[in-house]
Amino acid sequence: MRILVIGKGGREHAIIWALKKSASIAHIYCAPGNAGIAELAECVPIKESEFQQIAQFALDYAIDLVVVGPDDPLADGIVDVLEERGVPVFGPRKNAAIIEGSKVFTKDLLKKYNIPTAAYESFEDYDAAIAYVRRQGAPIVIKADGLAAGKGVIVAQTLEEAEQALKEIMVDKVFGKSGSQVVIEEFLQGQEMSILSFVDGDVVRPMVPSQDHKQVFDGDKGPNTGGMGTYSPLPHIAQSVIDEAIETIIKPTAEAMVKEGRPFRGVLFAGLMITKDGPKTIEFNARFGDPETQVVLSLLETDLIDIFLATINGRLKDMDIRWSDESAVCVILASGGYPGSYPKGIPIHGLDEVQESVVFHAGTALKDGQVVTDGGRVLGVTARGATIEEARAKAYADAERIRFEGMQYRKDIALKALL
Ligand code: AMP
Ligand code: GLY
Repeated sequence: MRILVIGKGGREHAIIWALKKSASIAHIYCAPGNAGIAELAECVPIKESEFQQIAQFALDYAIDLVVVGPDDPLADGIVDVLEERGVPVFGPRKNAAIIEGSKVFTKDLLKKYNIPTAAYESFEDYDAAIAYVRRQGAPIVIKADGLAAGKGVIVAQTLEEAEQALKEIMVDKVFGKSGSQVVIEEFLQGQEMSILSFVDGDVVRPMVPSQDHKQVFDGDKGPNTGGMGTYSPLPHIAQSVIDEAIETIIKPTAEAMVKEGRPFRGVLFAGLMITKDGPKTIEFNARFGDPETQVVLSLLETDLIDIFLATINGRLKDMDIRWSDESAVCVILASGGYPGSYPKGIPIHGLDEVQESVVFHAGTALKDGQVVTDGGRVLGVTARGATIEEARAKAYADAERIRFEGMQYRKDIALKALL
């Protein structure tokens, strides 16, 4: 089989690493890929946004399946374009990817079907939004409606912060069109949990749960990022709570999408808060998480290509999907300055000294044969162990072997599981 993966991050590196274990795959291409992906797959210089070129490549190279990693092409309808041209593809169509692409859509869906989530109101009018936050008070959460590279959510601790966020989103338009509407919602307290599921319509097959670390600094301090590290599973969260989230949130949401005429096919990612009143939805994404995928696929014991094919061919329900009972931890090594501005092109040293981890490349490139930084999140050092403690120790030992100027990483990934 010949596979084409779309994307260039750590998530796509992990997907390709998992697919590589399959005996039935002859060749993997990646558009556009990165320096780490280039060691496992043939990278082709087509951008994620060039749907017609991707379709043409898939037809010319007799690709058996295209797997789409990132949110932007899914929200913009890449799956519809590929399907129209007869290319088999794993991922949701545009009318289902809206579950990530519009927070207003998703909040309204959850309300309509009584699925637990934070109380909210949505606004197009700036003055009305300001009046609402003044009535509600802080802490309060402000969300730009559309995609904003993981930065469109502001958890405001004070009224001033909330008003500032509304001004930036609605008046200064820092996220462009994504900010023409906002959702303002109740601040939820509790442990966060991510559950990714393979979904085909109302068939939901959850993966092992994981937890991300969104803020850039230790102790959950500093601004939000795309994710600074993950671990799986979550030994400190009872299985009954995980089951409750699946039964009261994830399955009803997949069923609601079918009822709305928007059946979801692909990976549905539920971001959840475990509150004292039970699990509540923070958000849904229409794709694998990054860096959740790095730990989750590290624990997958079933052939990933078989799961993808079962999902698109109506056989997901009967698929035997097995997970290791070990643990996995991923520590993200980021560029100095991230999530603000950061330099690129800095040489990375020590990759060949890594001993017990798999290093998934997120933002790297090759320059004159040297691996250099090429993004905010640069590498995801990922290790498995019998326990979280063991996986964590291995990942940090290897993280210390890698060096580049300005490199920063959190030292407390997975500590919440050990308290
Ligand atoms: P999102 O981009 O929707 O995942 O939001 C980014 C982060 O903001 C989440 O991972 C949470 O840590 C936080 N967050 C989002 N919504 C809420 C909420 N209603 N209450 C508290 N924290 C939230
Ligand atoms: N790690 C969070 C995300 O992929 O959106």
